Order: sequence, then structure tokens, then C-alpha cells
Amino acid sequence: MSDFVSVTNDGNVAIVSIDNPPVNALSFHVREPLMHALVALRDEPSVTAIVIACAGRTFVAGADITEFGKPVQQPDLRAIVAVLEAITKPTVAAIHGTALGGGLELALGCHFRIADAGAKLGLPEVKLGLLPGGGGTARLPRLVGAVKALRMIVSGSPIGADEAHAAGLVDAVFEGDLTTHAVNFAREIARKGGPFSPVRDRNDGLRETDLVGFDAEAADLARKARGLEAPIACAQAVRNAIALPFDEALAAERALFLKLVGGDQSRAQRHLFFAEREAAKIPGKDIARRKIARIGVIGAGTMGGGIAMVFASGGYPVTLLETSGEALERGLATIGRNYGVSVARGSLSEEAKRQRLGLFKGTTDYGDLADCDLIVEAVFEEMAVKKDVFGRLDAVARPGAILATNTSYLDVNEIAASISRPQDVLGLHFFSPANVMKLLEIVRAEKTAPDALVTVVELARRIGKVPVVVGVCHGFVGNRMLAARGAESEALLLEGATPSQIDRAFTDFGWPMGPFQMGDLAGLDIGWRNRKARGQTAVIADTLCEQGHFGQKTGSGFYLYENGSRIPVANPEVEALIRDKATERGIASRVIGTDEIIERTLYPLVNEGAKILEEKIAARASDIDVVWVNGYGFPVGKGGPMFWAGLEGVDKIVARLDHWHERTGRQVFKPAPLIRRMAGTGSWESGAETA
Ligand code: 3HC
Ligand code: NAI
Repeated sequence: MSDFVSVTNDGNVAIVSIDNPPVNALSFHVREPLMHALVALRDEPSVTAIVIACAGRTFVAGADITEFGKPVQQPDLRAIVAVLEAITKPTVAAIHGTALGGGLELALGCHFRIADAGAKLGLPEVKLGLLPGGGGTARLPRLVGAVKALRMIVSGSPIGADEAHAAGLVDAVFEGDLTTHAVNFAREIARKGGPFSPVRDRNDGLRETDLVGFDAEAADLARKARGLEAPIACAQAVRNAIALPFDEALAAERALFLKLVGGDQSRAQRHLFFAEREAAKIPGKDIARRKIARIGVIGAGTMGGGIAMVFASGGYPVTLLETSGEALERGLATIGRNYGVSVARGSLSEEAKRQRLGLFKGTTDYGDLADCDLIVEAVFEEMAVKKDVFGRLDAVARPGAILATNTSYLDVNEIAASISRPQDVLGLHFFSPANVMKLLEIVRAEKTAPDALVTVVELARRIGKVPVVVGVCHGFVGNRMLAARGAESEALLLEGATPSQIDRAFTDFGWPMGPFQMGDLAGLDIGWRNRKARGQTAVIADTLCEQGHFGQKTGSGFYLYENGSRIPVANPEVEALIRDKATERGIASRVIGTDEIIERTLYPLVNEGAKILEEKIAARASDIDVVWVNGYGFPVGKGGPMFWAGLEGVDKIVARLDHWHERTGRQVFKPAPLIRRMAGTGSWESGAETA
């Protein structure tokens, strides 16, 4: 018995209860008493069956991630599962909440698994750059089949109790008091008598494996892994479960786990796991939250429509306001179509679509926003238009309503100062497409009230977003750093690199696409208009726009997209244009290597991040990583720009920034004081403290 593991008896059935809040992770202080309890119950003749259950909101949600990277303290999970699996009395895992990772592996060590109807089961280790290291890759395929196990383990996505039941992963699904059901289930099994096969001895799932189909699917998954080692190791381990004797498969799984857990990719992904949770923590635990029951959205264009969908999908009634009945109809029709696509894809039921659409109320009358608790504007990106909208809101919104702008660049302080209640104003910067992208930059203006801020951070988590609180500056964290990343793009082209070469350097790095592909996808006209408004130029991109090449939507941009294809094909005319413009400027073409492309794009990105930290626009370096991974596709296996800087070597980055600054005189290369300090201390935070 310990504070974390207790044993009670219900007749001859023993109930081992794990209680390690918040998620019952298998920390050393759980494993040790759990092992003792299992050994004692194994040897106790009066006990005829054993139930493993958990207190609190969930079954075991996995190994304790904070212990990774430190020396393993015995007993480890594998030793516990080995003891559990060798017990000859029936053992039953009673699963409520989530059985994830090591939690599901513990359950797989039992003869039987029963689940609450709302439970979710999965092996999400791949999301931490790992594979299941407690025998999951060897045991799961034996129950659900190799192909299903492959999909579950490589995707890391959990499945619901009913699906788990249908697949053979759980033996029964119950509603109501699960422990009572588990005890009755165990007692009945014990009464009928054994023998009970441990999962390791069951081959039901493996018998009919189509190896050719399996290998084809595994190869496809490996291609999509984009340089990540874990998905490939996961597929290999499941393959071993089919091809090797059980103990050999287990040993191979262990070897792969050890390799991954010590590697940079898993370190990066574990960093991101905690970084996302840290980012949502802001001072104000004891502040009363504002009530949010109805949400208003102004503007039903690209962003407003998506934002309205996010809230409706989260269950909130939404009042959507447009300038005219026509624009409103158009916006609502797009929303209906988008939900329709989800239905066609099978990710949403017809009934859920109907329910969500039922949450919308369209209007052209500002007075209809009077009952909204949060109002988000997503109108044109012009200060005068924004101020006009906020002025109207000031007149109609109820006292205490939170008034948010989705501006990409504009000064939220200026917007706030233009009305009588600046304390209620903040930025909610969603990313496009708003109903898909996880990131939400929450912009804290000078006068934003703390209770408004904590309210929206919590709301963001509730609707499935990853919130990061940022300060006011042009472009906030993400777009400001994006500008620094792209500052050298044109110079690189003029000096001899091609768009495909630069994009290739990015995809080889692990980005889903390079900057020119991204520009073509988003529409080159957006940047063009923005540059014109700011009196800036970019000779190649501007010329393309002047000639009507806006990217995918016009069939040509930096690349060609023939017959509506989305696959970029190198455009010889663009390459000729680049050479012409270079010649006009007397710039000689030279061979530009991948290292130089990285140094001139990603080093300025890190440098800008350092400036942002120094100015306290972001509270932590890890917040910047969360922004870049969730909003811009920075490769997860590199942990975000600030984490990656540590892997790359901050000394090296500073030296090369100095080099390029000396050579070009451009400000993006001038090392921020903080990045120099970081090179000395090895920590962004300790560097920031001395600022
Ligand atoms: N280890 C250590 N801490 C964990 C943890 C874990 N496995 N899972 C969650 N936590 C912590 C979080 O860091 C957070 O701490 P904080 O309050 O100090 O920020 C707290 O528990 C609550 O977590 P969430 O905010 O994420 O709570 P939610 O209710 O939103 O989500 C959850 C619960 C779905 C269980 C989610 O926490 C989760 O997905 N956890 C990770 C699950 C996982 O990856 N398991 C596999 C671990 S690796 C493994 O098992 C290896 C094995 O094969 C050997
Ligand atoms: P959009 O042009 O697609 O939509 C704007 C909508 O606002 C139009 O439907 C228009 O009719 C409506 N509108 C204009 N003035 C209005 C008013 N006074 N009252 C009510 N409705 C009004 O523009 P988009 O792309 O949706 O951008 C909106 C805002 O979101 C901008 O501030 C933009 O900077 C920001 N943003 C855009 C992103 C993008 O990728 N498009 C990403 C993140 C933020």
C-alpha cells in the first residue's frame, strides 16, 4: 500500500487502484508499489481474480514523460507487465477516461480489458518521437490485427471504446460504475475457470496478415514521415511482431525505443508537449472568469467564416454579422459547404452538421450583437474599418463583453484606445484555415484586463486550439518572424538560387513546403498589397503580381499549376525573369548551397525570435516554438526555431549572422544582444533574465 497504489478486496476479487493525479502516469512512485501489490496478490491464495482500476479522471495515460532522458529506476514498465502477464488468476483492466501509451500497455498485460463507454484507447508515443516501449507493438497486433495496429501506432490517434470492442482490444463496454462491473466480470470469469491466455500467447490477430498489403502500407507511411524516425521505427516494430517470435520482437522494440528516446527528435517532441501546456499557463489562477455563452463574429469572409465554424464546432451559438444580406448568404453558404466536405469525408455526421448549422444566427444589424459575451471581428485589414467596427461595438455590446480583433498586423493598442472600454479589447489571431489550424495567438494589449485574458486562454483550449499569449508589435510573434525568414528570399534568387532549390532546402529540412510554394498557395497578391501599403518592394514577386501571376489561384506564380493542378512545376519564365532582373542590377549568378539557404533564412528567423523575447512580446522561448510548429509547419522533430537553435549550435548561428551582417549590412543579420548572451549561457531564459 502507498499513497499512489492501494489494494481493496471485494470478496475474493482484489482491486488494485492507482491514484497519481492528474493523469495517473506510471511514475517510479507508482511502479514500485504496483509491482509489490501484483507480486503479493499473485501469491495470495484467497484472491481468485485481480482488477486494475484508476482513481480520478482517467485510467493510466502513459509513462511519466518527465522521467525520459534520465536513468531508469527499476522496476520499469516491462518488468511489471512481465509479472502481471505471468499471473495465472484472471486479471482485468477497468478502463475509464484514457488508456494511453504505457497505460494501454499495462492493460495489455492483463487477460481482459473492459472499458467505460466514453473511454479512449491508444498508443500515442509516436507524437513524442517514440514507439511504445512496454510491449505495445508486440501485443496490440495480436488482438486487433497487424494492419489496424500499424495504423493506430503510426498515427498515435486513440480509438473509442466501441471501436476497441469491435476490434477485439476490449472484451466488454459498460456504462455506470466501472469498478463494480469489473469486479462482477472478474468474478464470473474466475468462477468459470481458466486457463486464460495472456495476450503474448494469442495469435488471433496475426493469423491472416496480408504481408504484401502490410508492407505497402508501411512503405506509404514511411514516405509521409518527412524525416521523422519514430513512425518508421513504429512500423518496423509492428512488422517484427508478425515476423519474429514474441520475445525477439519485444527485444527489438526495446532496442528501437532506447535509440529514439536518446535522440534529438524525441527530445524536441517532448519539449513541444510540455511547451504547449506551459504556453496556456498565465498568471491568474484565482481570477474569476467572464461568462462566455454566445459569441459574435463580424465578417463572414475567409477568416470570419472559419472562426465562426470553430466556435460552433465547440458548441457555442454564434451570431454572424456582415455588411449586406448577400455577403451574409455567401458566408453562410460557404460554412454549409465546408461542413458538407467533413460529412463527405466521414469526419462529421449529418446530424452533427445539422446541429452545428443550427447554432448560427446571421444578421446585418449590430444591435443583434448585444447579447454576445465575446465578439471577434474579422473584417478588412484596414485601421479605419477596424476602428469603425469597434466604435459600433462600443455602442451596442453589453458591459463586460470581450471585444477581439483578428488583425494580422495592426496595432491592437490603437484599436483599444479608440473606444471607451480598452480593458475589454484583445487580439485573437487565428490562422488560415481557421477551422483547421491549431494555433491561436492571443494578443494582450496594454490595457487588456487579466480576467478577459484568462477567459479567452481557457476558451481557446476548450475549442481545441493551442493558445499562445503574445504582446503587441507589427505581425505579433508569427508573422513578424515570417517576415525575417523571407527577408533574404529575393536576394537569394537574384544571386543564383531558384525557387525550387530554396523550397527543396526547406522540405529536406522537414517543412511541409518551402516559402515559394507557400506564397503561391496563400496568393502572392496578399503580400503585394501589404508591401504597397507599406511602401516596400520585392522585385520578383511584384513583377509576377503586376503580370497577374498570383499563384495557385491564377494557375501560375513562382511555379506553374497546369489544368487546376496543385502540384508545383518549375516555371522557366520565372527563372528567366530572375536572371533578367539580376542582370539589370549587375548581380552575378553563383552556385548557392543548401547551407547558405538555411543560414540566410532560418538564422534570421531565430534572431528575430531573440528580439521578440528580449522585447517580452513572447513570455518564453518555448512559446515561440509552439507558434512556429502549430502555425507555420516548423518540423516537430526539430522542436521549433528556438529549440532547434540549441541543436544547431547558437555559437555557430551567431558567428554566421555576424558574417552575413558584415557582408550585406542588412539588419536581419545583426545579432540580437540576447542571442549573443544565449551563446554564453546556453539558455534563452537565463539570457533573458539578465536583460
Ligand atoms: N507524463 C507526465 N506528465 C503528464 C503526462 C505524462 N504521460 N500526461 C499528462 N501530463 C501532465 C501534463 O504535462 C499536465 O501537467 P501540468 O498541469 O503541470 O501542465 C497535466 O498532466 C495535465 O495534462 P493535460 O493538460 O494534457 O490534460 P488534458 O486533460 O488536456 O489531457 C491527456 C489529458 C489526454 C492524458 C493528455 O495529457 C495526454 O495526451 N498526455 C500524454 C499521453 C501520452 O503521450 N502517453 C504516452 C506517454 S509515453 C509512454 O507511455 C511510453 C511507454 O510506451 C513506455
Ligand atoms: P476577407 O476579405 O475574406 O473577409 C472580410 C469580410 O469582412 C468580407 O466578407 C467583408 O464583407 C466583411 N466586412 C468588411 N467590412 C465590414 C464591416 N464593417 N462590418 C462587417 N463586415 C465587414 O478577409 P479575410 O482574409 O477573412 O481577413 C479578415 C481579417 O483577418 C483581416 O484583418 C486579416 O488581416 C485577418 N487575417 C487573415 C488571414 C488570412 O490568411 N486570410 C489570417 C489571419 C488573419
